[in-house]
Amino acid sequence: MTATAWQLLREAREVLRAAGVDPDDALRLARDLLPRHTTTPWELLDQPPAAFAAELRAAVGRRAAREPLQLILGEVDFRGTRIATAPGVFIPRFETELVCGVAVEAAREARGGGAVRVVDLCTGSGAIAVALAREVPDAQVWAVEISPAALELAARNAAAAGVRVTTVCAMAGDALPELSGAVDVVVANPPYVPPDGVPRDPEVRDWDPPAALYGGGPDGLDVPREVMRAASRLLRDGGVFVMEHADVQGAAVRGALAEVGGFDDVRTLRDLTGRDRMVRATRTRGTRQVGDWHP
Ligand SMILES: C[S@@+](CC[C@H](N)C(=O)[O-])C[C@H]1O[C@@H](n2cnc3c(N)ncnc32)[C@H](O)[C@@H]1O
Repeated sequence: MTATAWQLLREAREVLRAAGVDPDDALRLARDLLPRHTTTPWELLDQPPAAFAAELRAAVGRRAAREPLQLILGEVDFRGTRIATAPGVFIPRFETELVCGVAVEAAREARGGGAVRVVDLCTGSGAIAVALAREVPDAQVWAVEISPAALELAARNAAAAGVRVTTVCAMAGDALPELSGAVDVVVANPPYVPPDGVPRDPEVRDWDPPAALYGGGPDGLDVPREVMRAASRLLRDGGVFVMEHADVQGAAVRGALAEVGGFDDVRTLRDLTGRDRMVRATRTRGTRQVGDWHP
């Protein structure tokens, strides 16, 4: 006898529980896969189509092997926009929505009637860049990334969201020399994990690309330092820099920003659990060196 919908779900939940995965992922997968087979909602389904049962079991098997749910679903919600995911590209996280929110606020304040220039360094899937373009009307958004595969996904995500984002394949440190001194907001979620901070969750350790996780150097802050220098170069006087970091890196990031120079009003901001998770700083007015500015 074929399994009923609820038997199928119970079986899927057991498989996930045994693998140490949240059993509720079974229903998330079922709801995602079902519309490909029938218009009957999950709650009213008695006998699921055989093809659906096979597809659900396959998806549950992938999840039990600790493939991230967002990769199996092929998308993630980021500030109300569907961002496509792809193997080899960092999956956007909830905490980054808060970092993006601080950048959105800074960009809205900077608008003052005219177009605002925003640069997202280390854009990955383009989640931050797309959200900024959607949420700040008239923003001109550039998205910088070293991975061509990630940048291609960022361009697809911008097109799917119906927004204009200029994608640039470059190291953060070398990016956009033509915009030096002319950017209102620089935002970044760079790689920042130190070499001894290998993530425990297989979903992160085995699936996020190393170039998206490890920041380099003994403290994981080599790429973040490159990003800070780029922000100091790109921002106009009074422009705002927002960057995500690990909860233990607040003081180190403030110290690194002081070494890079050119910032004041440097503040470490916390996430909803009260942990230090980002820095916000303002490009100091009137400190730009002669020859620093390349319009
Ligand atoms: C933590 S992921 C963040 C992706 C995206 N901003 C997000 O929040 O979901 C960091 C990204 O930075 C890119 N990256 C690493 N080093 C870089 C560098 N020096 N310049 C530009 N991008 C870099 C990686 O390829 C990766 O896509």
